Amino acid sequence: MAILVTGAAGFVGSFVAAALLARGEAVIGLDNVNSYYDVALKEARLARLAALPGFRFLRVDLADRAAMEAALAPVLAAVTEVVHLAAQAGVRYSMIDPYAYVASNVMGQVVLLEQARRMPALRHFVYASSSSVYGGNTELPFRETDRVDRPVSLYAATKRADELIGQAYSHLYGLPQTGLRFFTVYGPWGRPDMAYYSFARAIAAGEPITLYEGGRLKRDFTYIDDIVEGILGCLPHPPAAGEPARLLNIGNHRAEAVTTLVRLLEEGLGRRAEIRTAPRPVADVEETFADITAIQALAGFAPRTTLEEGIPRFVAWFRDWHRA
Ligand SMILES: NC(=O)c1ccc[n+]([C@@H]2O[C@H](COP(=O)([O-])OP(=O)(O)OC[C@H]3O[C@@H](n4cnc5c(N)ncnc54)[C@H](O)[C@@H]3O)[C@@H](O)[C@H]2O)c1
Repeated sequence: MAILVTGAAGFVGSFVAAALLARGEAVIGLDNVNSYYDVALKEARLARLAALPGFRFLRVDLADRAAMEAALAPVLAAVTEVVHLAAQAGVRYSMIDPYAYVASNVMGQVVLLEQARRMPALRHFVYASSSSVYGGNTELPFRETDRVDRPVSLYAATKRADELIGQAYSHLYGLPQTGLRFFTVYGPWGRPDMAYYSFARAIAAGEPITLYEGGRLKRDFTYIDDIVEGILGCLPHPPAAGEPARLLNIGNHRAEAVTTLVRLLEEGLGRRAEIRTAPRPVADVEETFADITAIQALAGFAPRTTLEEGIPRFVAWFRDWHRA
C-alpha cells in the first residue's frame, strides 16, 4: 500500500512526502521537475526524500496522458490515498505563459483523476486548490460558502476549474475528494517566485524591492509545518459515500500587512530594504484572510506558527542555502 504525492519535488509536496515517510508510510512521489524556478532547488528537495526509506519517484508530466498511464500502471493497485500538489503555480506568471496553466492544472488534473478512478484501493483524493478562487471578494474572512465565480487571474480560474472537475468526478464515479484552498504558504525550502523569497533575495543583495500600494496589501501567511499538519489531518477523513466533493480553506486565520513581512525579513537579514512602490497588478488581490472553522471541525486544524516565528526560520534556511 502507498500514498501518491504529486508535486513531490515542489515546496509543499516535498514536506508532505517527508512527513508521511517519517510516520512509516510508503510514498510514491511524482513530478516533472520543470524549470519554472530553480531546478537545483527541486533536485535538492528530491535528494532529501530519496535518502529516506519508503520513497519511490516517478519523473513524469501530468499532462502527458500516455506517459502517465505507463508510469502509474505498475502502482495503481497499491495507492490508498492521493495527495495532488503538482501544478503550475504563480498568479502573475499566468499572464506570461497561460498555456502552462491549462496543461498542468486542467489537462493534468483530468489525467490524474482518470488514473485515480482506476485505483481499486483508493480511499481519498486530496488536492491543492487556492485562496485565489475568492478573486475580488471583499467580504472577510473568506468562507467556503462565498461566491467564487469572479477569478482575477487565469491561475485562479484553473484552480476553480479543478474544484468543479472534482465535483463532477465525485458525482460520476463516487471518487471521494477534498480540495484544500491554500493561503500563501511560506517557509524553509520555499518557492523563489513568491514575494517573501524574492524580497529576501533582493534585500540580501542590496537591491530595491517593489511594494504594491505601499505594502498595504494583506496576506494570510501560512507556515509550511501548519499546512502539512492540515493536509495530513484531512487524509483520514474522506467525504462519505454519496456526499459531494469537499472544499476547505487552509490558512493561518491572520491577515498580515506585507510591510510586516518586510520588517521581519530586514531584521533576519540584518539589512534595510530599499523600497519602491507601485500600483497593485490587476491579477493580485488586495487581501486574503481565511475562515478555518470547517477544517478545524473536521481535522482539528489549529495553525500555531506566527509570521514572527516563521520568517526567522525561513531566513535561517535562506542564508544557509544562498550562503547569504
Ligand atoms: N505555495 C503557496 O502559497 C500556494 C498557495 C495556493 C495554492 N498552492 C498550490 O499548492 C500546490 C503546491 O504548491 P507549491 O508551492 O509546492 O508549488 P511548487 O511549484 O513548489 O510545486 C509544484 C510542483 O509541481 C510540479 N509540476 C508542475 N507541473 C507539473 C506537471 N505538468 N507534471 C508533473 N509535475 C508538475 C513542479 O515541478 C513542482 O515541483 C500547487 O497546486 C499550488 O498551486 C500553493
